[in-house]
Amino acid sequence: MKSLNLLAAAAASALLPAVDAITPREMLAANRYSVALPDPSGEFAFFTATNYSWATHKTSTSWKRIELKTKKAITTWHTGGGISELVFIQNDPHNILYLNSSNAEDNGGVSLYYGPSSSPKSAKLVASLPAPYSGLKASRTASGDIHFLVYTKAWPNGTAYNEQLSATPLSTARIYSSIYVRHWDYYLDEKKNAVFGGVLKVSNGTAVLKGNLTNYVTGIGNITKAESPLDLNDQGDYDLSPDGTKVVFISKDIDLPLANYTSSQLWYVPFDGTAKDAVRINPRGGTKYPEQQGASSAPKFSPDSKSVGWVQQNGISYESDRNIIYVAKAEKGSFDVTALATKWDRGPDHLEWSRDSKTLFASATDLGRGRIFPVPLDSEETFQPKNITNEGVVSSYFVLPGDRILISDSKIWSSRDIYSVIPDGKEVISHFQANTADEELAGLGPQDVSEFYYSTNTSEIKQQSWIVYPKGFDKSKKYPLAFISHGGPQGNHANSWSTRWNFKVWADQGYVVIAPNPTASTGWGQNLTDSVQGRWGSYPYWDLVHAWQYVRDNLDYVDTDNGIEAGASFGGYMTNWMQGHEMGRWFKALVTHDGSTSTLNQFASEELWFMDHDFNGTFTPKAFQPGSPYYDWNPMLYIDNFATPHFVIHNDKDYRLPVAEGILLFNVLQTKGVPSKFLNFPDENHLVLNRENSLVWHTEIFKWINYYSGISNATSPY
Ligand SMILES: *[C@@H]1O[C@H](CO)[C@@H](O)[C@H](O)[C@H]1NC(C)=O
Ligand SMILES: *[C@@H]1O[C@H](CO)[C@@H](O)[C@H](O)[C@H]1NC(C)=O
Ligand SMILES: *[C@@H]1O[C@H](CO)[C@@H](O)[C@H](O)[C@H]1NC(C)=O
Ligand SMILES: *[C@@H]1O[C@H](CO)[C@@H](O)[C@H](O)[C@H]1NC(C)=O
Ligand SMILES: *[C@@H]1O[C@H](CO)[C@@H](O)[C@H](O)[C@H]1NC(C)=O
Ligand SMILES: *[C@@H]1O[C@H](CO)[C@@H](O)[C@H](O)[C@H]1NC(C)=O
Ligand SMILES: *[C@@H]1O[C@H](CO)[C@@H](O)[C@H](O)[C@H]1NC(C)=O
Ligand SMILES: *[C@@H]1O[C@H](CO)[C@@H](O)[C@H](O)[C@H]1NC(C)=O
Ligand SMILES: *[C@@H]1O[C@H](CO)[C@@H](O)[C@H](O)[C@H]1NC(C)=O
Ligand SMILES: *[C@@H]1O[C@H](CO)[C@@H](O)[C@H](O)[C@H]1NC(C)=O
Ligand SMILES: *[C@@H]1O[C@H](CO)[C@@H](O)[C@H](O)[C@H]1NC(C)=O
Ligand SMILES: *[C@@H]1O[C@H](CO)[C@@H](O)[C@H](O)[C@H]1NC(C)=O
Repeated sequence: MKSLNLLAAAAASALLPAVDAITPREMLAANRYSVALPDPSGEFAFFTATNYSWATHKTSTSWKRIELKTKKAITTWHTGGGISELVFIQNDPHNILYLNSSNAEDNGGVSLYYGPSSSPKSAKLVASLPAPYSGLKASRTASGDIHFLVYTKAWPNGTAYNEQLSATPLSTARIYSSIYVRHWDYYLDEKKNAVFGGVLKVSNGTAVLKGNLTNYVTGIGNITKAESPLDLNDQGDYDLSPDGTKVVFISKDIDLPLANYTSSQLWYVPFDGTAKDAVRINPRGGTKYPEQQGASSAPKFSPDSKSVGWVQQNGISYESDRNIIYVAKAEKGSFDVTALATKWDRGPDHLEWSRDSKTLFASATDLGRGRIFPVPLDSEETFQPKNITNEGVVSSYFVLPGDRILISDSKIWSSRDIYSVIPDGKEVISHFQANTADEELAGLGPQDVSEFYYSTNTSEIKQQSWIVYPKGFDKSKKYPLAFISHGGPQGNHANSWSTRWNFKVWADQGYVVIAPNPTASTGWGQNLTDSVQGRWGSYPYWDLVHAWQYVRDNLDYVDTDNGIEAGASFGGYMTNWMQGHEMGRWFKALVTHDGSTSTLNQFASEELWFMDHDFNGTFTPKAFQPGSPYYDWNPMLYIDNFATPHFVIHNDKDYRLPVAEGILLFNVLQTKGVPSKFLNFPDENHLVLNRENSLVWHTEIFKWINYYSGISNATSPY
């Protein structure tokens, strides 16, 4: 698509079906956009675009300014780096604060700048902070000072940790006396995230840091030491009130062991207090909502600073339970908590407030999309929120003056769309669309995507699947099937852009992509999600059998005789399960990315609550006996049936499912003489993030599947 002139491509897409293919190189080089951050008056917004050059092997980021009230072109506000984060200051409409990820001392710390939003060049250095802080939030208080929050890792004594300023120990030993040794891609140690507050005195357009930063988190804790943001989370775990006087943050339950439970609570602390003053807003064991035991997330102060809203699950050790919306009066000593729309069978994951503090706008996964739903504070338990957005998966949204909502989302055909709606969902104004702005995406659009619902034997309700068409799709022709199984298992295939599993990039190799949402999928009600418990190899597998049969019997343009199947994580488990069962024979080739091979190894993972829930209990000798989900759903029981060419990918830094799972699978396939190939990245975790690695990942997978499906004329899949 590189050769296409932008305007011509946009015009052509309106008239003709897309004829251009997006290749892995193009997808990986194309701009990746941040979300749009509006200025408090709603006049304009900033967002970043980061591209990648295959010539220099470098990324370049530029800050864009988009006018929200006029149709003016998007302008470049800043290039050349140096700004790692930028925020508008509540109650200080014309100024910004930004973090520069380096400082003049070059000691591993960051620097803070303050200045007018009109020009980055006029910003002045405010402070050099001696640790790698991030997650900036700021408010101007009634006194005229600016209060800000940031977070970084802290030592047990509360001092911010800076690797560059710390002595390197002589030994690399790590010693543990309790579980939760490692998580995702790093080993846990005594340093924990903490939220810090700082005060800036403002006079004559300049700001000066007053005193030291205050750590609100370190020191709290009984069985578990408080940590906020949670170890892999970010600034979404804390908030500063618009008036700058109050702080809330989330920590895992300090009275429960860390690896067994998902339970977490909101802590409240006055901005001018310390960790000693922090109190829990929603301690377990409350009398009003005794079932409120699970993970809390998305705390957000109301514009009037009087209340805080958040979402929370009930299940104390279940990470995929349904979220319920709660609101509390945020005054010390009176956390009057109220649950809203508790019967709503969707899991809201983010909240924003209307300007009058009377309505919450919740985003939730809904039927394969991520949509926004208004929920008034006076909602009854039975209130059924109605979506005000439709396609795409919302990444972020902000409520502007007049309650217009500025939304950043993505779709299978566009890596970033920025648009705004009014609270009844009408009057949509489009501000930016990546598929018309980026030459790599030119020609992609809704015509590339469709969906269907199929009947299955696990539930009364029909289940959904996406269809993604290849370049120049002609329904009178036949295209090999690319059947993609999703991870989780509690998760979904949604109408969103991905730089890792980009359905359009797969389709454009010459496939019709079928991406089903079987039992365990989120967005069709909690019962479908919950029904996978104890049933990994039955319900979702049976559903996928039904989805495949539907495609074979109803979609004439899909060649199911020459199809391939691929999946990551639980999707990789499902691929391994298929290899041992009937479905494995329906595909010419399989691909497992960082999957689970032996369910008996699952306890070598880090989040024990996950197995405790999904396999109905902890690991005991019963796990080795029929009747236990650990035993019954083990793909290793069926290795006698393994026969289909199978490509295995597994990365060293994957602590979610350790690399031995991939090596075990490859060893079994090789021993049995099944054509197989193994790809490993020593520097990647459960995901492949580095663009150069991702290019190899795509190239090797496509060599494999294109050879076996017959799309390629290559003489070998290796
Ligand atoms: C990538 O972004 C930089 C900075 O905005 C820009 O100068 C360059 O032209 C872009 N490269 C491509 C290939 O679009
Ligand atoms: C970022 O910090 C570095 C080191 O102090 C400085 O040289 C550079 O000019 C700063 N850039 C911006 C945009 O603040
Ligand atoms: C806190 O502990 C760290 C690591 O032991 C140490 O480097 C630092 O000096 C301590 N800070 C204070 C204020 O004692
Ligand atoms: C305020 O800033 C301006 C411009 O930087 C300077 O000329 C003036 O002297 C400053 N006034 C005070 C009171 O510092
Ligand atoms: C700031 O911290 C430093 C180092 O811990 C300490 O020496 C100094 O007294 C503190 N200043 C204030 C105002 O608390
Ligand atoms: C647990 O910690 C909290 C806050 O640090 C404290 O108020 C409470 O008394 C502790 N509970 C127990 C049982 O130690
Ligand atoms: C936490 O999990 C470990 C390992 O399964 C178990 O031994 C321990 O009893 C659990 N603790 C609690 C309080 O549930
Ligand atoms: C809400 O979702 C439905 C599909 O369930 C869709 O048809 C409708 O257009 C959406 N409403 C708005 C206002 O986007
Ligand atoms: C919940 O799901 C199970 C399994 O799919 C099904 O048998 C049951 O009928 C469903 N229950 C409800 C209330 O929909
Ligand atoms: C697992 O637990 C669920 C929920 O308690 C229950 O419905 C299911 O029957 C259990 N499955 C097994 C295999 O024990
Ligand atoms: C549901 O369908 C699958 C796939 O055809 C089949 O293997 C399974 O036995 C069926 N389950 C029941 C309970 O009929
Ligand atoms: C494969 O060979 C055929 C016949 O030579 C040719 O038409 C086709 O374009 C080739 N396909 C690829 C992917 O090279």
